This record gives sequence, structure tokens and C-alpha cells, in this order.
Amino acid sequence: MQPKEKRRILITSALPYINGIKHLGNLAGSQLPADVYARFQRLRGHEVLYICATDEHGTPAELAAQDMGISTQAYCDRYHEIQKELGEGFALSFDWFGRSSSDENKALTQHFAHALEANGLIEERTSKQVYSVDDGRFLPDRYVEGTCPHCGYEKARGDQCDNCGRLLDPVDLKNPYSAVSGGTNIEIRDTKHLFLLQSKMQGEIRNWVEASTDWPQLARSIALKWLDEGLRDRAITRDLSWGVPVTRPDGSVRPGFEDKVFYVWFDAPIEYIAATQEWASAADGDWESWWRTDQGAADVEYVQFMGKDNVAFHTVSFPVTIFGSGEDWKTVDKLKAFNWVTWYGGKFSTSNKRGIFMDAALELLPADYWRWYLMANAPEGSDAGFTLEGFQAAINSDLANVLGNFVNRITKYTVSKFDGALPAAGTPGDDEAWMAAELKKSLAEISAHYEAMEFRKAAAETRALWAAGNEYLTRAEPWVKYKSDVDAAAIGVRTGLNLVALFAIVAQPLIPNTAKTILDTLGVPNENRNWPSPDDDNLLDALPHGLPITAPPVLFQKIEDAMVEEWTEQFGGEPIEA
Ligand code: 2FM
Ligand code: ZN
Repeated sequence: MQPKEKRRILITSALPYINGIKHLGNLAGSQLPADVYARFQRLRGHEVLYICATDEHGTPAELAAQDMGISTQAYCDRYHEIQKELGEGFALSFDWFGRSSSDENKALTQHFAHALEANGLIEERTSKQVYSVDDGRFLPDRYVEGTCPHCGYEKARGDQCDNCGRLLDPVDLKNPYSAVSGGTNIEIRDTKHLFLLQSKMQGEIRNWVEASTDWPQLARSIALKWLDEGLRDRAITRDLSWGVPVTRPDGSVRPGFEDKVFYVWFDAPIEYIAATQEWASAADGDWESWWRTDQGAADVEYVQFMGKDNVAFHTVSFPVTIFGSGEDWKTVDKLKAFNWVTWYGGKFSTSNKRGIFMDAALELLPADYWRWYLMANAPEGSDAGFTLEGFQAAINSDLANVLGNFVNRITKYTVSKFDGALPAAGTPGDDEAWMAAELKKSLAEISAHYEAMEFRKAAAETRALWAAGNEYLTRAEPWVKYKSDVDAAAIGVRTGLNLVALFAIVAQPLIPNTAKTILDTLGVPNENRNWPSPDDDNLLDALPHGLPITAPPVLFQKIEDAMVEEWTEQFGGEPIEA
């Protein structure tokens, strides 16, 4: 069952925008599942490189910096650190957490643009843009706001309407005004931009998507829908100062582009590669062997994680950049997309104080609680609503009752009745055979779900295995047998203790901190924490006989009704559209 050969797996999760702190839904749709998958594959003994970064360019960062009255650079420095620390707080095991504003990304973005232009895929075109006479500047994307031409919402942003969700072209807004100054003295002026001729790549991209049969369904269907609508050429530069400068191949600024930079969605995915270069410089790694198919990356499996709104950029736009360069770059093999996590069916919103954001979450409870609930309810088949009541039920039942009590009961019993030492006596019987069969089946299923990146199912089966352990103890009844036959009780206790270790081992991808506490308490050495093979017949007798056993501290605190009430007050628990 276990693949013998060591695979090389490159994992990226969508780069979080630098502005602001991400909410639990953002976390659940990219970084967290990528981390769970990375941890699982490492435990299987594969070589994993998990890369992420902050997405630092674009108008939201500039506007947020202005609001705070600091420079965009200072703003990005600050929020990169904050996001990095929150990632650590949630035990996200990045091999590298980079920055799209790095020198590496500047150089690589410019390199791709030069290669694309040399291949006839970039051309300069004059286009109409919104210009603010009051501000003396063009207003790209979110710098302009106004009334949505589709739904009439009066605070639509230039690139997208938050009310109807449609993507917009800033020049189509009605009653436009500057997001910087509020100025309404707006003109539509001509300005020059670089256009990526995506239409020329339509055939090549379609062939590639159609051949990518390993992609989960959601990503594939979104990609095909975009291709069916036809790829349009798109502007890849903007009238802004914060971003990657537009250069000529000799490094000088491209004439006429002195006040322009590349569009954030052009440079952001290139940062996947550039962040790997950042990692390579810092960790003495070899980035080419992960990204250049002519230098060893042909055997890499590349897996991407993202929310569904990012799919088009990853299945169409970024591949146009990669293929259009004509160079030997690694492209994605499996792309896992997620629907949304909603807050009681509505949107998370900082301004409306709705929903729990990553910083607040860690102040309330340890990371594992959130990790468990978010993955057990991953927004896979459809959107998934986060509710505090659902969260409470999952934690109290799955973690505190099913897992926590099992660990607690059997370790405490060993301490009180077997002098705190793993008993050696007793012979396995029918109950142990039943448990061994359950274990074998469960391990194979959990692995298969992780391989398929079905996180909800992986969590459900992990829980089912814990529940089988409880059922085993009910059948084996060591506490009853102890009264008449200590050896018969001993086999139950020994099996139970081995289950404790196994439950923690398989829980490592989902709740790594608690799993570590359990395994440390049992003294399981690191080299014995790898993913167990279902074919190993010794799994239920793997711990050394006589091993000293202590009970771990209480693993999970129950969430009381009073806490739910308080948090409902604090974070808004009612559905918006009741
Ligand atoms: O949607 C987002 O949050 C973007 N910042 C994702 C970028 S992913 C990659 F292309 F960089
Ligand atoms: Zn609208």
C-alpha cells in the first residue's frame, strides 16, 4: 500500500494579500489545508517543500498604508511580520514564507515579461483609464469607487463590486470618485499599458487543462468555464508607483513606463518561484531542482491550494506566463480549490465586526481547536458555514470526548493499576483482532483521503478511528477483567496505550501541537512518529513493554455555553440574511 519510492512534492498555498489580518475562512481555504497536506506527506517520508508568501503589491496595500499614515514599504514590513507570526501561531509548517516585494520576485517578474515580449506575447496598447484631476493621477483598480453598473451598489470598487461580486472595469463605474481624496473631478484619459496576448495561447492552455486529469473537479470545471468564454488579452501594467518596475531587457526603465508598475496579479504567482529562490538563498537549497524541468524538476509533483476565486488566475493567466516564456518551468500537477467558509451564512467583515480573524482566534483558544473544526468542516463540496455552536459541538465531542477522554482514561488507569508501566502480560484475543482490522482499514482510508486532498473525509475517518478505540475499550473491558484476571486486563491496557500513540501519530497533520504533547508524554522518539503502514502487523504492540507511562495534562478544554454566548456578542453570531 505504502508507496515505496520517495516522492518530491512542491506545495504552494495562495499568497495572502498583505493588507490586514486574514479571517478563519481565508485560512481554511488555502494555507491550512496546504499545511495539513504537507505534514501528511512528510510523515509518509516524502521530500516536501511548502512555500507561501505575502502578496504585497496592488492598490489595497497602498490604500491601507495611507489610512495609517505610513509608507507602503513600512506597512508591508509590519504586516508581513504579523502574518508570519500568525502562521507560526497556527502551526503552519512553511519551509519558506516569503514576500512578493523581494528582489528575487522583481527580477523574475521582469524576466518573464521580457521572455513573453520576445515571443510576441506582449504588446503596448493605449487604453482608457480613470484619471483624477484633483489628485493629478490615474486611479487604477481600487483607487476609484462609484456606482456598480450592474446592481447599482454605490460603493463598488473599480475592480470589483462587493455587492454583486462582478469583476469590473474602472471606466464602467457610474458617478466615479477618488478613493484617495474623494474627488469627483474625474476624466477618462488615454494611457499606455502592456497587454499580455492571452488569446494567442487559448489552444495551448486548453490542451493542457484537458490533459490535467489529476485536478480535483472544482478547479477543472472553473478552468474550463473560463476557456469556454475565450481568453481575452489583458493589461499587465498599472499607473502606480508601488510594485515591480517595468524594464527593458538591459535593466533600464521602459520609456513611457516611468510611473507604471506590473499589475499585482502578474507578479504574485511568479512569487511562488521567487519565494523558492528566497528559500534557496537562505537555506542553501537548490531552487532549480523544484522549478526547472531541465534541471531535475520533471519528477516533482506540484500541488497548489487556493480559494475558488483564484482558480482562473492559476489555471489560465499564470500558465500563459509560464508556457508563453517558452522556458522549461514546472507547472501545477494538482490544483485543490475550496469554496467559501461563511460566518453564519454571511461574509466575514472587519468593518462590520463579523467573524473571527486569525489574531483573535489564537487569543481565545489554541490553534488545534480551530484547525480541527476548519478541516473537519472544510468547504469542499459547497460553502461551509462557521457557527460557534457547530464549533463548540465539534470540539466538545470529537476532541474532548472521543480523543481526549480515551487518552486520559487509559493513561490514568495504567498509572493507578499497573504502576505506571506499560504491561507486558496477556495474549491478544478476539477484541484485539477486531481492533487490528479496524485500524488497518482506517489507516488505508485516511491515507487515501489525504492523497485525494479530501480533508473533510480525512478528518471524519480520523475521528472514526478514535471512536473505534473507544469501542474497543468497551468490548475489552480491562477494568472489569482486572478484578478476576490481571493478565486479561493487561492486554487491554497495552493495546489501549498503543492506540493512544497511534491516534496521536495519525492526528499530527490536523492537530500537530496536541499530537506532540501526547507523543512526548509517551516518550515516542521522533523517528517512530512516521505514518504507520496498514500492513504492519505489530502496530498494537509497538511500544516497549515496561515503558513508563504518565497521564498527559488535560488535552482539551470543553467549550461552555457561556463562552459561546460571550463570543456571539463579541463576533456577531446572527445570520445577516435571516
Ligand atoms: O486572492 C488572494 O488573496 C491573492 N492574494 C492570491 C494570490 S495567489 C498567487 F497567485 F500569488
Ligand atoms: Zn454590483
